[in-house]
Amino acid sequence: MHAADPTPATGAARKGRVLTGYRPTGPLHLGHWAGNIENMLRLQDERYDCFYFIADWHMLTTHYDRVDELAAWTQGLVLDWLAAGLDPERVTIYRQSDIPEVAEMALVFGMTTPLGWLERVPSFKERLRDMDERHSANFGLLGYPVLQAVDITIVKGELVPVGQDQVAHLELTREIVRRFNALYGDVLLEPQPLLSESPTIPGSDGRKMSKSLDNYIGVRDEPDEIRKRVKSFLTDPQKVRRGDPGRPEVCPVFALHSRFSPGDLERIDTQCRTGELGCVDCKTILADHLIETFAAYRDRRRELERQSGLVLDVLEAGLAKARPVAQETLATVRAAMRFG
Ligand code: TRP
Repeated sequence: MHAADPTPATGAARKGRVLTGYRPTGPLHLGHWAGNIENMLRLQDERYDCFYFIADWHMLTTHYDRVDELAAWTQGLVLDWLAAGLDPERVTIYRQSDIPEVAEMALVFGMTTPLGWLERVPSFKERLRDMDERHSANFGLLGYPVLQAVDITIVKGELVPVGQDQVAHLELTREIVRRFNALYGDVLLEPQPLLSESPTIPGSDGRKMSKSLDNYIGVRDEPDEIRKRVKSFLTDPQKVRRGDPGRPEVCPVFALHSRFSPGDLERIDTQCRTGELGCVDCKTILADHLIETFAAYRDRRRELERQSGLVLDVLEAGLAKARPVAQETLATVRAAMRFG
């Protein structure tokens, strides 16, 4: 985490408002866990004022034709968060689309954000490249960072946990805010990044673990599925059979060991290099660790699933806390822009 003092100077005991969101486009995986969920839990435990939300309008930027799955994905994500240990008594969990003020403010930011800023965003260019022929890029995809800037500023988010790859996105939010304030008065808070230092977790193909690449291991996967997915992982291509010396530093399986097998790490490193440890056995060790690490999580999740109405209650309670803040911000924005 970033060393810069994340506690704003407003009131000695007050910790800043942390804001982060997830698009509901599938299950939580180990990449989220290592890169993000652990930070979200830590910030909760350190008593930051955490706002964690489901970015369901953002889901439409790429998955606009999959709305049939939206309800299940949203429900699943909230359950994943709760099973991971997020406590709705201490953090505010809500759904973006339950706050219509977000949409109105996105329209406003859409007017004040220069097109060039959005066209230059690296992830926009990447998404354009990755689109298959059934889809075409939409206005919302270009405007993704505009909506994200609204998510943060409308609830007065001060700190946004981000990985290195998202710093540019947050910088754009800050520019949008600065421009707004320069035009209409000092109305909006400029958020700061809370940089996560956890390294990116690779997926089975060695690229960043992600839902859309289907190279992930889900945190709620059952043991059989975990074994199957671990088996599908690439290893050092120069290590073809047991006995061949391997290079842990290029191996995706070793990257997962580094994160999830701390006790065995040195032994695995040494025995991989000498060739004593083969990839098949190495993967078995990893699968065993993962199965054990997430056993309590799976049990908790199963139990939460049985509590009918839980997710709705959590979202309703979160909305009751988040929406008044959004309404207040929007009222200030409208007044500053003479739409009073
Ligand atoms: N971009 C995030 C993702 O891909 C989702 C998101 C939307 C978000 N709005 C945000 C994250 C605001 C942090 C702050 O999952």
